[in-house]
Amino acid sequence: MPFEIVHWVSEANPRTIVDGTYGGGGHTRLLRDVLPDDGASNLPSPLVIGMDRDPSVIQRDDVPGGPGSDPKVELFLGSYEKAPAALAHCDRTHADAFVLDLGLSSDQLADRDRGFSFTLPDAELDLRFDPESDLPAHQWLAFHGEKEIADAIYQFGEERFSRRIARQICLRAKERSPVKTVGDLVEICRRCVPRSKNHDIHPATRTFQALRIVVNDELGILERTLASAADWIAPGGRIAAISFHSLEDRIVKNAFRNDDRWEILTKKPLRPSEEEVRENPRSRSAKLRVAMRKADVSGGLPGRPPL
Ligand SMILES: C[S@@+](CC[C@H](N)C(=O)[O-])C[C@H]1O[C@@H](n2cnc3c(N)ncnc32)[C@H](O)[C@@H]1O
Repeated sequence: MPFEIVHWVSEANPRTIVDGTYGGGGHTRLLRDVLPDDGASNLPSPLVIGMDRDPSVIQRDDVPGGPGSDPKVELFLGSYEKAPAALAHCDRTHADAFVLDLGLSSDQLADRDRGFSFTLPDAELDLRFDPESDLPAHQWLAFHGEKEIADAIYQFGEERFSRRIARQICLRAKERSPVKTVGDLVEICRRCVPRSKNHDIHPATRTFQALRIVVNDELGILERTLASAADWIAPGGRIAAISFHSLEDRIVKNAFRNDDRWEILTKKPLRPSEEEVRENPRSRSAKLRVAMRKADVSGGLPGRPPL
């Protein structure tokens, strides 16, 4: 929903935008054009800060105008949770807009070494956005017991057959042939998960989603970031988040509802048009929610009479 993002963000007349999930840079390129041209002396220079956890994304040389060559774009390697540090590095305390496009990019899906795609069975089951962080998914499976694995697949994948799958994963480990590749896990899921009625969901979809969420702490990062975002988004500023499954969407919805510093601008989540889904089938489950940071109410300390 790139044009919806541009619409909602531009309404805030932003000078500083954080694109927390840079990916292929599509949003950053569009958001850059929303910025004013001027470098008014007493205001911070117009800037999009692009962040991504994946070093291969940030080090690519096809970023807008080449790395370091566009004065309106700064890229940071790291989780969007560190947005306040990226802002401080650029000599600013607040952003006027914060954009999140959660999940993984098409480039990551196509990468033969990451294990994100079921169509590459020989790939190691890694599933990390940042290959330097924590454990790849196959090691996470090796270090956890059947119950923990089943609980994670159920909680983060909403997979009804989580116990069967976890049992098979642990059986393989006992037989000294632990799950190591995408193909190993897909084969287990095929045996444990009956085909869906319309055959529209691959039997491994939910399990892979669960493991990706676990190894990247995706929901924890989202929850913590949204809980503190009103501290560093300027009054009148916007937050726009695109989520791809119900667990993410629930976190976004509740974060906006539970903090009265946000005014919700999209009463219902926005969905991609039929045309966008035709062009990009992966967008079919996307939901966009937008909120505005309300102006601070100055009332002194609670219970204290006004001076
Ligand atoms: C769907 S893609 C974003 C696509 C991007 N909006 C574009 O227009 O090309 C999601 C990106 O978010 C990144 N990502 C996931 N979790 C992240 C996090 N906690 N912090 C920063 N980037 C993250 C992934 O590495 C991936 O590159």
